[in-house]
Amino acid sequence: MTLNTRKSASADLSLQNQQTIDKYLSLKHRLELGAVLDALDRAGITQTLLSSKSLGFDRLANDTKVNVEFLTLLIKCLWINGFFTPESHWQRLTLSPLGLKKLLQRSQYTGMLSGIEAALCGDGDYTSSQSVNLDSVQGLPSWLFSKIYEKYEGSKIDDGQQVEASEECDNLFAPLFSHTATYFKSYQCIYDRLSNHIKPEDHLFGDDHLDRLQDINTSADVFDGVIAQAFFKQIKERFDYPFVWRQPSVLVDIGCGNGSMLKKTYEFIRDHTSRGSYLAVYPLTLIAVDISESALSVASNTLEAIDTPTHVVQGSIDHPKLLWKHLQGLGFSPKSALHMSKSVIHDRDNTCEGISVADLNNVNNSFSVSLDRYGHLQSVATLRHSLFEHLVSWRPFIAPFGYLVIEAHNGLGGGFKPSDISAKAQSLLTTLNLSHDLSSQFLVSQQTFLEALKLANLQVMQLINLQKVNSEPTLALYDLAV
Ligand SMILES: C[S@@+](CC[C@H](N)C(=O)[O-])C[C@H]1O[C@@H](n2cnc3c(N)ncnc32)[C@H](O)[C@@H]1O
Repeated sequence: MTLNTRKSASADLSLQNQQTIDKYLSLKHRLELGAVLDALDRAGITQTLLSSKSLGFDRLANDTKVNVEFLTLLIKCLWINGFFTPESHWQRLTLSPLGLKKLLQRSQYTGMLSGIEAALCGDGDYTSSQSVNLDSVQGLPSWLFSKIYEKYEGSKIDDGQQVEASEECDNLFAPLFSHTATYFKSYQCIYDRLSNHIKPEDHLFGDDHLDRLQDINTSADVFDGVIAQAFFKQIKERFDYPFVWRQPSVLVDIGCGNGSMLKKTYEFIRDHTSRGSYLAVYPLTLIAVDISESALSVASNTLEAIDTPTHVVQGSIDHPKLLWKHLQGLGFSPKSALHMSKSVIHDRDNTCEGISVADLNNVNNSFSVSLDRYGHLQSVATLRHSLFEHLVSWRPFIAPFGYLVIEAHNGLGGGFKPSDISAKAQSLLTTLNLSHDLSSQFLVSQQTFLEALKLANLQVMQLINLQKVNSEPTLALYDLAV
């Protein structure tokens, strides 16, 4: 099984394959939720929840000596998974029958964190019968799959059927697990962070919280099929514009990752737009920007042999002024640049004032909280404000050609009701939210993102939803203009 030869899991699938996907999603879900439950149990939170069945978050926090800000993230995860009654809020957390049942099933989650830790150390005794290529991304997902399967009798998937990792389901299995595997380091630390053994900043700086190479490869793989087509449609409009000299001469990809989206975009312009015939006279320079040195080194390789000028630059999406000062020093002007970014805005530094745990009493029913990288608690309102400030900082640089943004959203818009969602949706939303929460990234709902854009006075020329879970957008393309 080769984990880096991924194909889209949404490709034309037979019913049997769909069932296989559902089973893998169920297993992945058990792993992620199991890591949370294991940590809560070890920290005594489960006991407190079970003993009173209905209590306010402040009492839960007082009764247990844990990092209360971090605890909010785990409560949010339980909420997404329907552990609380629909009437619950921060002042009154009431376990639902399902929450009660799952908390009591200790054999389903005890030891999950040590399983993840062992997987990260690579000292597992995985079986060769699974033909897993452990060279790729250390084969962690497959290893853990087999490990959990062997270890937990109770974790036999749903109907008790065994799912074999076979060549046939390789390409279905890998994409489902690659994101989760990227964040194993963050899952492993849940208990230590809850118990204050690790400070958030110790965990987060220097990419200690995730496998950065896997992250950029997984993210680049998403730029395919309908997602790439929607993006290229916006690109085509600009590079088919009849007056070539009034088209962009620079393409700036902020948070370029492994550089493959920038490369594919250039190849599309070269091969599928009228500009392609004029590149010798009106060349297009590619500027790949990222904060991470490992991403930049991969991007340099990706762009090395390309038939157009390129620059690979270390810079931050948080500091457009500084970045453009540097780029102007290289002879470029923002007025001739088309900007693009994918899955970066929520990964930037969102450190801002935040709220106190006591303020949770005023945030009504919204469990949508996040932490910044110093562990400060952020509500939807503070996130919207920090997003607004960020977007405003880009205003002076994106005219006249605009800014194409692909952003992920948390899928927890206004109408989200945990009790109404399918097991598959629960699995997808758990992966999406938990991995980002544990790594101090901050996903917001599309509604909040649009409100921040409006506050920043940025025009949304096009909005295309690219992925949805339960009819709520989880990935969208925005064509922005001043
Ligand atoms: C999820 S990856 C996306 C990579 C690429 N845009 C793609 O979609 O294939 C996030 C990227 O953003 C970069 N990044 C995170 N914070 C950043 C910042 N403040 N400025 C620039 N890049 C940043 C990371 O190093 C990483 O390469």
